[in-house]
Amino acid sequence: MKAAVIPAVNEPWELRDFPIPRPGPGQVLIRVHASGICYNDVLASRGSLPFPSMRPAVTGHEPVGEVVEVGAGVLSRKVGDRVGVTWVREGCGRCDYCRLGLPVTGQTAMNCPAASTTGFTAPGGHAEFMTAGADATVLLPDGLAYELAAPVMCAGYTAWSALRAGRPEPGDRVAVLGLGALGHLAVQYAHACGFETVVMTRSADKHDAAKTLNADFVVSSGEQLRGIGGADVVLATAPSHPAAAEALGGLRVNGRLVLAGIDVEAPFSIPSAMQYPFFAQGQSIVGATHGGPALLREALDLVANGKVTPMVETFPAARVAEGVDKVARGAVRFRAVVTYA
Ligand SMILES: NC(=O)c1ccc[n+]([C@@H]2O[C@H](COP(=O)([O-])OP(=O)(O)OC[C@H]3O[C@@H](n4cnc5c(N)ncnc54)[C@H](OP(=O)(O)O)[C@@H]3O)[C@@H](O)[C@H]2O)c1
Ligand SMILES: [Zn+2]
Ligand SMILES: [Zn+2]
Repeated sequence: MKAAVIPAVNEPWELRDFPIPRPGPGQVLIRVHASGICYNDVLASRGSLPFPSMRPAVTGHEPVGEVVEVGAGVLSRKVGDRVGVTWVREGCGRCDYCRLGLPVTGQTAMNCPAASTTGFTAPGGHAEFMTAGADATVLLPDGLAYELAAPVMCAGYTAWSALRAGRPEPGDRVAVLGLGALGHLAVQYAHACGFETVVMTRSADKHDAAKTLNADFVVSSGEQLRGIGGADVVLATAPSHPAAAEALGGLRVNGRLVLAGIDVEAPFSIPSAMQYPFFAQGQSIVGATHGGPALLREALDLVANGKVTPMVETFPAARVAEGVDKVARGAVRFRAVVTYA
């Protein structure tokens, strides 16, 4: 089979031949049909996030495909099932975090020292075939195209989890900072729930797309957001703490700023109280990541029933390096999806 390998930090991905893996006990073998390229894959390939620890380094945590073989003891999946594989597979079950008994979420990956993660510690989805524990797979809704399901496995899952973490209430206005993969889904999810929506983008050429995605307003900064009356919830999906901190200026009193974007360089800082009296605003700043299987199910269903539609650019496997380069340049509208079969 072909798999896209990252030879070393900062080297272009390349397709190489490997034997098809065999499913171990409790695992399934999946013929991958589509796998999205997350910005985190770019960060990992640069070594800004931990470089994938398995060798060869095959990343990709938005894989979807068809079960073609089940390993010993698997009862919950059968050949022919259409599945996606989650980024976080399982915790170690023994550390202090795992002993809290919480469901497997993005939090597990950041707190369990031995968590298993697709495309970081275990071979990921940029391959024609992959194995995963049956428990790390989700059944895809019937009729949902693979190319549209793939972006939900991380971008959609995160965007929906971020919206839920912002606890919007009826009548609230939700602003989304950064119109990329997460952002273009976040604004659609917010609109699908009936909230008034604002897109905050640095890119003048994305204003038309923002309107197409049902943004009620488009602004370019927190200051401009404040100028149109602010928002009750700001979902920061840009990879920039300074941009998220600037957006704080557009948050209404008692509002929630949700940090879903990952900034691997700059700190998040709240301005001095003379510039911005944060102490008196009653606002919350909360992080968000994959929030648990129930939220993934909701995120998939909203796409399957047509309320939210990922905008994707597909790349055949042979052009995977071109896709990665385009994601790194921020030139994709809005998720690059690599097709493997
Ligand atoms: N929390 C989680 O579990 C999780 C999961 C997946 C990804 N992430 C993180 O979420 C972020 C978005 O990922 P993605 O795949 O959606 O990336 P993406 O498609 O590249 O979108 C990011 C968008 O943020 C804006 N942006 C980029 N650089 C910026 C900067 N320096 N300052 C301000 N805005 C900037 C751009 O939008 P405009 O052109 O509209 O300004 C860009 O389109 C990344 O930080 C990624 O690491 C987090
Ligand atoms: Zn991701
Ligand atoms: Zn653990």
